Amino acid sequence: MKNIIEIKNMSYRYPVSDDFCLKNITFSIQKGAFTAIVGNNGAGKTTLCNAIRGFVPHFYKGELAGEVIVDGKQIVDYQLGQLGEKIGYVFQNPFSQISGVKDSVFNEVAYGLENLGVPVDEIIQKVEDVLKLVNIEHLRGKNPFELSGGQRQRVALAAIIVMDPDILVIDEPTSQLDPIGTEDIFDVIRLMKERGKTVLLVEHKMDLIAEYADNILVLHEGALVMQGPVREVFSDPKYATFNIQYPHVTEVALNLIDIGVPLKFIPIRNEELPKALKMEWEENND
Ligand SMILES: Nc1ncnc2c1ncn2[C@@H]1O[C@H](COP(=O)(O)OP(=O)(O)OP(=O)(O)O)[C@@H](O)[C@H]1O
Ligand SMILES: [Mg+2]
Repeated sequence: MKNIIEIKNMSYRYPVSDDFCLKNITFSIQKGAFTAIVGNNGAGKTTLCNAIRGFVPHFYKGELAGEVIVDGKQIVDYQLGQLGEKIGYVFQNPFSQISGVKDSVFNEVAYGLENLGVPVDEIIQKVEDVLKLVNIEHLRGKNPFELSGGQRQRVALAAIIVMDPDILVIDEPTSQLDPIGTEDIFDVIRLMKERGKTVLLVEHKMDLIAEYADNILVLHEGALVMQGPVREVFSDPKYATFNIQYPHVTEVALNLIDIGVPLKFIPIRNEELPKALKMEWEENND
């Protein structure tokens, strides 16, 4: 499979800052993969997203070392607009994403396509489809500024999906949502993966990462300290040293192991716990 994103020995320092907030980062992402970026507050997750979409250094300036390659081309050789077509970016703060020039959710979601000069019939069809997909049809006539944080997060995601970019970079899309709203968003992201999109997602909800994501990148104080398939990373004792959350069931399993309960393997999804326990129990009681 082709690497759609390649980062090589990348370091970055914001202009006002003395220290590098991303330090010698190297990884690559295959086309169509769903990668979660995790790490504590200030670890550099949002900055890394901004490096991938070219805002670092095109917009934020500062000092960038190493290479960021998207779809075979160095990021510094792209125009920002060109990258914008390739990479859809959903902001961490849903209040940053609303354009401020549209008076209804429908028009807000249509805005990007309008700017591209897409024919009106086509715009209407695409927006209708996306409103349904993201479950916000009932909000179509609302002013974007009257929405709750969670509703804005859905509108922000819809406004990006409607543009049909190859790569989705999504920074904490569920921070303002309840568990059901969160599952809805993950369902949409899964659908995007099924449609062949490459997804990078910053998220703190590890249960959902364990369920949906293929790979994890762990950032710690600006360094990429772990990377690999979700199961490998969560099962690796090294993960515990960074004080980042685990999936709930993994936390329970590690506590059981600590008090001497042997487990066959370390579960990362709820439904795996009985199996991890039972197999061991059955063997001991044969
Ligand atoms: N525009 C900026 N100018 C200077 N320093 C910045 C800027 N934005 C972020 N930083 C600093 O860079 C470091 C990484 O910040 P970043 O926002 O990328 O972390 P994060 O992992 O996304 O954190 P969070 O979980 O809080 O969203 C932090 O030390 C932060 O203070
Ligand atoms: Mg952030």
